[in-house]
Amino acid sequence: MPLAHSNHYRTHTCGELRESDIGKSVRLSGWVHTNRDMGGVVFVDLRDKYGMTQIVFDPRRSGAIHDEAAKLRGEWVIRVEGIVKGRPEGTRNNKLPTGAVEVEVTDIQILNRAQTPPIEIRDDLTANEDIRLQYRYLDLRRNPMQKILTTRHLAAQTARNYMSSQGFVEVETPFMVKYTPGGARNFLVPSRLNKGKFYALAESPQLFKQLLMVAGTDRYYQIVRCFRDEDLRIDRQPEFTQVDIEMSFIEQEDLFVVVEGLVAALLQTCTGVELKLPLDRMPFEEAMRRFGNDKPDRRLGLEHVELTEIVKKHGGGGMKLMKTAVDGGGLVKGLRVPAQYELPRSQIDKLEELAKGMGAKGLAWAKVDAQGNWAQSPLAKVISPEMRTEMTQACGSKPGDTLFFQFGRAALVQTVMANLRVHLGKKFGMIPEYGAGGTWDCFWVVNPPLFEYDDEAKAWVTAHHAFTRPQPQCLEALEKGTGDNSLQSPLKDVLCYRYDLVLNGYEIAGGSIRIHDQETQKKVFRAMGISEAEAQEKFGFLLDAFQYGAPPHGGIALGWDRLVWLLTEAPTMRDVFAFPKNQKGVDMMTGAPNVVAEQQLRELAIRVIEEEVNPAPKKG
Ligand code: AMO
Repeated sequence: MPLAHSNHYRTHTCGELRESDIGKSVRLSGWVHTNRDMGGVVFVDLRDKYGMTQIVFDPRRSGAIHDEAAKLRGEWVIRVEGIVKGRPEGTRNNKLPTGAVEVEVTDIQILNRAQTPPIEIRDDLTANEDIRLQYRYLDLRRNPMQKILTTRHLAAQTARNYMSSQGFVEVETPFMVKYTPGGARNFLVPSRLNKGKFYALAESPQLFKQLLMVAGTDRYYQIVRCFRDEDLRIDRQPEFTQVDIEMSFIEQEDLFVVVEGLVAALLQTCTGVELKLPLDRMPFEEAMRRFGNDKPDRRLGLEHVELTEIVKKHGGGGMKLMKTAVDGGGLVKGLRVPAQYELPRSQIDKLEELAKGMGAKGLAWAKVDAQGNWAQSPLAKVISPEMRTEMTQACGSKPGDTLFFQFGRAALVQTVMANLRVHLGKKFGMIPEYGAGGTWDCFWVVNPPLFEYDDEAKAWVTAHHAFTRPQPQCLEALEKGTGDNSLQSPLKDVLCYRYDLVLNGYEIAGGSIRIHDQETQKKVFRAMGISEAEAQEKFGFLLDAFQYGAPPHGGIALGWDRLVWLLTEAPTMRDVFAFPKNQKGVDMMTGAPNVVAEQQLRELAIRVIEEEVNPAPKKG
């Protein structure tokens, strides 16, 4: 992109000059990328965000200028004046857009010197990530990182234009809010003016956007920072951004149309790819059954096979542990790896370790031989031939295939098998380690249950927030199940209007149609075991507002960092943050979080519990 206007420092960027500029007098400013002394003539690659231009210091033109050039070191900041020349035949660099020309320097000014940078400023840097994060300003100087920042900016522009074109208004909501229970863990902010009291940093604008619907805003959106004190994972940062949306007088499908248009516009802007609309809608039950999680990566096969009913039918088929699992309401699942993907014993042992790392007791497996029998399998001797045959058939097995099995508590079986599937998919190159690999698979997961069983509390708890609307055909089950905390409670069958949007195996958005009427809300609170007084205490301001005419409404939030990460195909999500925290939540550059002075704590009436910070080592 050409400069809007030239100034003292430059007439052009370092990525701009072409053959058509030959003969022009120009000024360039930038960083010394490389400098080479070729028998007296000094060649410097001058770099800025836009590109690189070769500049030449010829001693025959000016000894003084050449002497200055001889002093230059990597990353010094300079300004040069000179004449654009065509490069002699054979010395052109076809890899650089400016590679047909060079600037013969007539004047140089050293604007700043630089120490030797601790990381190299090059596109294919492989430095340790903590060092990159510590010197983020140098890391960001690299071209791929600047490209990501630009793409993120363009994506935000696209989102704002699209939302505005659809009649949405961007409204800012507070970050410092009242703590409300449920959802993610909040960061707390002590109040100096109200000693002993705390704000919470908003985990999302959820309650405020619902209040905006009561206020008649009709179509709200916001590109907004959210804060969650969670354990960090590859796709989680403690502060992250959402494109947050809420709409009045809508049903689920109305919202889908808006969001699909947004995602299609973003994909088009960032990758040039056209997304085929409408997107698929996959029932939650199907996602769990076939893939073991609610954000399946459909770019690879290796689907799960439900074997629970077969094990029940055969009374465990000689497999004691499987019998115990199904008797206790657990699950049995299989996964078939076709013969073409070789899995020697050593690899299987590694996979078992992986499963154990996820909390599994082990990973049962079998190799199918030419007769369809199970060979080399620890299970082969114990399992009844009838159950074995049926399981083999259910898995669609062929000779040479490897079968994996997992049985036990449903949630654990699903997690282990879902992760195993993706791990194998990457291992065998069915999907890349990161990046789309040319396929953009985006779809909705719909109709999940409203409640999930909490093994520790031995009770049904809402899987989402308390304002998610149950589906009308399930209201009877909701009432019947209220107070019934058995595993068989009708609460397990209550579906709701919650939806997630999945892109290549990641949840890029989630939302729901809300409860706007008091009758339904009371029923849900009752089923959750929340008394009216408790509800008032926890959500009073929202419930109060709902008494003044809340319209039917619903919304969603797109995980902006996740989406930009996937769209830019960057190796990690941290790459799409200018200044991310590392995996321990530490800002390696500034050193946050840090200890503060005693006086600061006193002003806030706060004391650090030293035994909690540095617990004494346990004896024995
Ligand atoms: P939810 O909690 O599902 O919904 O969040 C919406 C989306 O935000 C992204 N996300 C994150 N991204 C990076 N780091 C994190 N720690 C993180 N946590 C979540 C995910 C997720 O799909 N208020 C509701 C939305 C609604 O119901 O309208 C909410 O926040 O991509």
